[in-house]
Amino acid sequence: MPDLCRTGVDLSACNTLALPARATSYARIVEAAQLATPEFAAQRRFILGGGSNLVLTGDFEGLVLHMAIPGRRLLSEDADAWYIEAGAGENWHDFVQWTLAQGWPGLENLSLIPGTVGAAPIQNIGAYGLEVGERFHSLTAWDFEKRAFLTVDRNRCRFAYRDSLFKQEGWHLSGRLAITQVVFRLPKAWVANLRYADVAQELATRKIAVPTPREVADAIVAIRRRKLPDPAETPNAGSFFHNPVVDATRAATLAANYPGLPCYPQPDGRVKLAAGWLIEQAGWKGKRLGPVGMYEKQALVLVNHGGATGADVRRTMAAVQAAVREKFAVDLTPEPIFI
Ligand code: EPU
Repeated sequence: MPDLCRTGVDLSACNTLALPARATSYARIVEAAQLATPEFAAQRRFILGGGSNLVLTGDFEGLVLHMAIPGRRLLSEDADAWYIEAGAGENWHDFVQWTLAQGWPGLENLSLIPGTVGAAPIQNIGAYGLEVGERFHSLTAWDFEKRAFLTVDRNRCRFAYRDSLFKQEGWHLSGRLAITQVVFRLPKAWVANLRYADVAQELATRKIAVPTPREVADAIVAIRRRKLPDPAETPNAGSFFHNPVVDATRAATLAANYPGLPCYPQPDGRVKLAAGWLIEQAGWKGKRLGPVGMYEKQALVLVNHGGATGADVRRTMAAVQAAVREKFAVDLTPEPIFI
């Protein structure tokens, strides 16, 4: 199927930071069988989803496979749960809203996260007290090395904060696997997850004491719209850095020096800090360097004010990291991948 490919394709509309780059060749994948095209296995590849966690640093010398496999259905159900399958190319937010409309709650806290279903497990997307790994059942992927489809169950995925087997093995960078379908397990015994203070507060403001899944979703959509820029208007890639996790002693010292420092104790005894707070305190909220800056309502979000390149992103990223390191001696690591 070599005619699947186009050459010299402009990727600026395929990444939410709107960075300019061209791919030597490009194919839009709408069914899993297309991945078995022999020519694909021999080339340097990048598997592209919604491009919402991506920094394009220049032209991509190789093949970009743009995952657009559609489909969503109830696969099965048992006494305890619904098992829902979705194609890798489905838009994440639309998929979540569809599950709610079908009466299958459980993903509502992940409403309005940009990107695709197939990308969700790779960085174990998370927000408002839920990570996708908690609702993940299994996935199917094409393995370009073995030239076969494989199924990966939840217990093999090594999900952690913004991390998984797929990242740990570097497959998101090497293009070894292309995820084609994901199955979610949504427990029938639903309880609203209001662990995140902002959600409980938003529902209280709306005078909702016992929320439905739809009401939780609506509250989260409202919070996100207030805080986070819409990539269609202000190009961005969501949180640009991970929230750093430090040992308890270090967190206690920082908290003593900086009252107000948000600290989230982790199950392993370490403490997660809020990168957005550190960046704001380091003077970078709403500040820019050339065309790239940190968003004025959420300092953790790096935005392209217009015409930026990957090099501009790197420059601002390095300046923010240096400012936070100098003030707090904390290293920030970027969340998006650089290609
Ligand atoms: N904060 C500031 N100044 C800022 C931003 C945040 O002081 O400019 C403080 C807030 O007041 C709060 C704390 O930092 O005390 C945490 O802020 P927020 O609740 O906005 O969440 P976050 O830690 O900045 C994380 C995720 C988001 C996710 C939200 C909600 C990461 C890297 N980011 O952000 O995920 O939506 O929690 O759960 O873990 C993403 O990954 O792209 C993303 C948007």
